[in-house]
Amino acid sequence: MKFGSNIISNKYLKQTRELYGDDLYLDFGSKLDNKISNDNHFDNNYKLNLELFNKQINDCQKCSLGSSRLNFVFGVGDANASLLLVGEAPGEKEDLEGEPFVGRAGKLLDKILSAIDRSRDKDVYICNVLKCRPPKNRDPLPTEVKECEPYLLHQINLIKPKLIVALGRVAGMTLLNVDNSLKSMRGQIHDYNGTKLIVTYHPAALLRNPNWKPEAWKDFKWIRSIID
Ligand code: URA
Repeated sequence: MKFGSNIISNKYLKQTRELYGDDLYLDFGSKLDNKISNDNHFDNNYKLNLELFNKQINDCQKCSLGSSRLNFVFGVGDANASLLLVGEAPGEKEDLEGEPFVGRAGKLLDKILSAIDRSRDKDVYICNVLKCRPPKNRDPLPTEVKECEPYLLHQINLIKPKLIVALGRVAGMTLLNVDNSLKSMRGQIHDYNGTKLIVTYHPAALLRNPNWKPEAWKDFKWIRSIID
């Protein structure tokens, strides 16, 4: 069974079924189309689907982070992006503003994107594995990832990026379901449910260790060569 260019994995189908139940999982497109016809505010179908998906899930209470968050941080960017950047979870500023990577690390990320002739509105979509801020920015718990990862999978199926880039060790380990060092995950093309995935430094780590920037720059030149 094909869904755009991605083969739908059993994992995706199982998770989508858990999210929407049998009828929506079998016919998600037409249900969304019905909603689209009632809402002509947007003019781009992909964007519409993503916006509608956000509306469907942004009152999520599947884990305890639902009660401590200020804002559900769905994601931001170009709904037809070839590059999907995935961080671990919103921080304090992101929780306040409802947008991923808006703090100091986000400003550095914007500079890096500009150096590869992209921006958060141009050919890039940015989101996190978790859509809600963990208290005191602790690492995501496996139970939180289990509840939230299906949302990411559905975002990927709507956006259909050429490449996913996991920002930092925690995002990489979470998406690849391994307990490895950043070093061992960097520099190779992994597979994430049928989409290419690479792991690079988290921009916050680059702020703490500017001597890692040349290596990160190598990664982003490679990223550009994959998506161009
Ligand atoms: N760090 C992340 O991993 N995600 C954000 O959105 C902000 C900081």
